[in-house]
Amino acid sequence: MEGCNNLHSLLLFFHFSLLVFTPVIFRVTQNILLNSIIMNYLSGKHVLLGVTGGIAAYKSAELIRQLREQGAGVRVVMTRGACEFITPLTLQALSGHPVHMELLDSGAEAAMGHIELARWADVMLVAPATADFMARLVQGRADDLLAAVCLACEAPLAVAPAMNRVMWESPATRDNVSVLQDRGVRIMGPAEGPQACGETGPGRLLEPDALVSALSGLFNSGALAGCRVLVTAGPTREAIDPVRYISNRSSGRMGFAVAGAAAEAGAQVTLVSGPVSLEAPAHVERINVETAQAMYDRVLELAAGIDIFISVAAVADYRPASVAEQKIKTSTDTITLELQRNPDILAAVAALPGGPFTVGFAAETEGLESHARGKLEAKGLDMIAANEVGSQLGFETEDNALQVFWRGGSVTLARTGKNRLARQLIATLAERFTISRKRDKVVNIMEPHAKDSA
Ligand code: C5P
Repeated sequence: MEGCNNLHSLLLFFHFSLLVFTPVIFRVTQNILLNSIIMNYLSGKHVLLGVTGGIAAYKSAELIRQLREQGAGVRVVMTRGACEFITPLTLQALSGHPVHMELLDSGAEAAMGHIELARWADVMLVAPATADFMARLVQGRADDLLAAVCLACEAPLAVAPAMNRVMWESPATRDNVSVLQDRGVRIMGPAEGPQACGETGPGRLLEPDALVSALSGLFNSGALAGCRVLVTAGPTREAIDPVRYISNRSSGRMGFAVAGAAAEAGAQVTLVSGPVSLEAPAHVERINVETAQAMYDRVLELAAGIDIFISVAAVADYRPASVAEQKIKTSTDTITLELQRNPDILAAVAALPGGPFTVGFAAETEGLESHARGKLEAKGLDMIAANEVGSQLGFETEDNALQVFWRGGSVTLARTGKNRLARQLIATLAERFTISRKRDKVVNIMEPHAKDSA
């Protein structure tokens, strides 16, 4: 009998290992349509990009490419310093327009001078912005083309600083940033990390992906304005003893990106996160938990007051049936762990009477659509976002791809950065949520009549 139990536990563990430890494969799926939805944020918008002289100027090439991919028109103004780091020809080729550099250029003034450029812009972004350029902005200088255009432009101005961390933290720069913020200039970043100068800290230019996301946030449709959204993210940790635990490879990036995209779309977002080393996105309230049970408790506490629940967390399906009080000694060659099923958070929320619009995630190694649709029905969800996982891709990666299913429809979101993918997912979700809300209203209106006639 005990042998039977052991075998059962081993099988459970094996099953569990397959679920949570399987390395990740990724099948590149076709992009059918969602570009058109994300395009709504930047599509047709005129982005005037200022590039100043910092080592990060090379990133402006990728930034232009991504902006154009979103359907934005891009014109570029470079300072002399910027031309030392990247050639105008590169940015001209990528933007599809001549790059502007000189304030006093009679040819340019006749075609598109600084006032025309300023009028043309729907938004201005200076990326990278050096410490010197920000100081010049504060002073209202107009002694080169970029500074003059900034002064003449009525469109929202965003600045993405990039500099050595000590320069970023210097009192002069802090003051300049605060003056610019008071004037309504959006400061995007900087990011933290290793710097070209060999130091580590705040001062890196935000990645193009994040800049596009932040810029699109300025134009966001408010697709989820007024909605309360609850997102779970990351792995959970299930203790074995005081120092060991069972967990999985989830980095939390997808869930954090989803929370950020929902906030960008105007929602009030709460993020319940397992242990990850990520910063919460802007305007997102973060609650940290460790175990599946703790995540369940917090989510169920919050679920009553929300409109949309997006369950991105890779919740451990099982936890050790008992947690050893002391560190388990390595005295035997084999060890058996008995595992006990964790509560299904998503299914519990979906089953709440009058509960929120529920969106699940499904990581599948095969039979993507049938398994995802099976979960949609079994857990009573409104929508499910599925991705194939396997070696190299899915967990712990920067990119992802999704197939999103709901009753009677689906959409494929091609492989791209998780921030961009999250914005696409939120756009799809907002559309389905609005439709389901309208349907609920119709049902509410119809029901009293049905009762009247009864
Ligand atoms: O059944 P499976 O674990 O594949 O379902 C995945 C979906 O269910 C994800 O959205 C995940 O966040 C959610 N889930 C949950 N609680 C669990 C297991 C999974 O909320 N205990």
